[in-house]
Amino acid sequence: MDDTGALDVLLNEVRVFRPLPQTIIEANVNPQEVTGAYRLAQEDPLAYWEEAALELEWFRKWDRVLDSDNPPFYRWFPGGQCNIVHNALDRHIRTVNRNKLALIWEGEPGDSRKFTYFELYRAVNRFAGALRSLGVRKGDRVAVFMPLLPETLIAMLATAKIGAVHVCVFGGFSAKALSERICDSQARVVVTADGFYRNGKVINQKAIVDEALNSACADCVDTVVVVHRAGVDVDMVSARDIWYEDLVRSEAPETRTEVMEATDPLFLLHTSGTSGRAKGIVHTHGGYMVGVARTMNWIFDIKPTDIFWCTADAGWITGHSYVVYAPLLCGTTTLMYEGHPLYPQADRLWSIVARYGVTALYTTPTLIRMLMRYGSQFPRQHDISSLRMLGSVGEPLNPEAWVWFHRHIGRGECPLMDTWWQTETGMCMLSPLPVSVLKPGSVNKPLPGVEAEVVDRQGQPVPPGKGGFLVLTKPWPGMLQTLWNDPKGYAQAYWEKIPGVYVTGDVARKDEDGYFWIQGRADEVINIAGHNIGTAEIESALCVHKAVAEAAVVGVPDKIKGEVAKAFVVLSEGRELGEDLVRELKAMVRRELGPVVVLKSVAFVESLPRTKAGKILRRVLRAQELGVDPGDLSVLDEE
Ligand code: WTA
Repeated sequence: MDDTGALDVLLNEVRVFRPLPQTIIEANVNPQEVTGAYRLAQEDPLAYWEEAALELEWFRKWDRVLDSDNPPFYRWFPGGQCNIVHNALDRHIRTVNRNKLALIWEGEPGDSRKFTYFELYRAVNRFAGALRSLGVRKGDRVAVFMPLLPETLIAMLATAKIGAVHVCVFGGFSAKALSERICDSQARVVVTADGFYRNGKVINQKAIVDEALNSACADCVDTVVVVHRAGVDVDMVSARDIWYEDLVRSEAPETRTEVMEATDPLFLLHTSGTSGRAKGIVHTHGGYMVGVARTMNWIFDIKPTDIFWCTADAGWITGHSYVVYAPLLCGTTTLMYEGHPLYPQADRLWSIVARYGVTALYTTPTLIRMLMRYGSQFPRQHDISSLRMLGSVGEPLNPEAWVWFHRHIGRGECPLMDTWWQTETGMCMLSPLPVSVLKPGSVNKPLPGVEAEVVDRQGQPVPPGKGGFLVLTKPWPGMLQTLWNDPKGYAQAYWEKIPGVYVTGDVARKDEDGYFWIQGRADEVINIAGHNIGTAEIESALCVHKAVAEAAVVGVPDKIKGEVAKAFVVLSEGRELGEDLVRELKAMVRRELGPVVVLKSVAFVESLPRTKAGKILRRVLRAQELGVDPGDLSVLDEE
């Protein structure tokens, strides 16, 4: 974004969806309580978060809710002692949740496993004991390089239980990406699988670990634990590699849960996002636990009968927070699916929803648009009426996809929670609640206890309708504590660009009603003749056209305008490209966004380059277009 300031007001979405009376009646937190929470959080945000913390069990109460003596190194609940696993598992064993399903897992070939809280507790204890017997101690790092298996969640919880720090690496990453993360964290143990199923194929995962451990800085690793999954041949290196099953066989089903300081690290998670360079984000036991539990309960309105399905991989923050920790903290049932969402065909998701009676589905815009492209006949083949809540995260959800998801999956009845947050924030930050009035394409407002603003480069709030930088103006409990081994980098990257506030790196605008609209990453904004335009807005406008399934927009240099937009478009099933269509799309953008937005050209592509987490990698398209270096490609998904 240039110094002239803000983004222009462009997007003109006017549709509004009100909650059904039934939703309001049934909501755990009714509209009066929501108003009360906002009032309390505004007057005394620490009191609001303290109340949330009191819903969980602590070994020792905190001395202060927040220590802000040394910003930006905020410390939540200092003096407090806890362990997130005590709250996610141990305490449920003493309640009615003991024999309730904690986890439903389905493998891609159709096999299925289920764990009650009691069974999961025993499995976690066994592996925790095993880690201890391997010499893993409080503060040590354990790398988890796994497909989505029950053992993935078990390994994370077992690590946390003994006070060690898990470092999950998405199972689809390369040996190079894995070794970088192992070297950065100096992990002692790697937990992995022989292989896994993906899109009908068996992927050999252990071989990638072997390759990664060849690199010199990875000699910190003394044990590799291998879970049997896909029956692939693996080379077991003697004195280093051990089968999971052999390791846990002789372990007792109970072992002590380590008492942690609230501010002790729980996990590191490396994020490179769409921009390159991996940073080790550090999250803690206390604040993170409070943040994810509260947001889960409030946003998804958790009921005792829920089956909660967040489609993220456990290797991403969404998986950490809303597949593993938050559902268990809330005592609900979490569902995991190992495989490809379209395998063996485009109805896999709906078949899973129908067979297990999934009540809440939390997924990504990428997947929603992909499923939309296959059409509504697939969800119609299944009884998905058990659904009562929908959610989205990870990218801007364009209004057309929002409306499709709401209508065809949510029967026009289920609240659709478009939640904005980041690896760094740990927990949802901007999101509607079930009783909120929804605007498709907007992430609604900051949650109670969260303060966000749209500002210019100097940190001054911009007027409603104007675009600017999305910043968080107050610390929040789920916040990252620092960057691993790089506290200076932490301060610089997030807190010093605009003094005193956390800079998210996103651009957004706020409308007259205080609703936030995310326009994209700040480094992807396009400047056309002095007008800053978010990629998300042009993409949303293109998606209004029936022929467009998905679009990515990048800026390309232009002699007169400085920059103009170029669109890469994936067509809907059965649509054909042609000059007419290009003309229609250009006209569509002009009509939706105004004449300042010059769409110079349109290219039709089979698919868009994405990160392994499913985010569109616009920088790759742009680099291709300009013939320059695209930067780090290890995050690119080759599927
Ligand atoms: C983007 C994922 C628009 C945003 C939890 C953010 C979104 C980045 C939304 C973080 C949303 C996330 N609408 N954009 N609802 N949610 N983003 O670290 O650019 O993988 O900064 O965390 O995703 O991605 P990350």
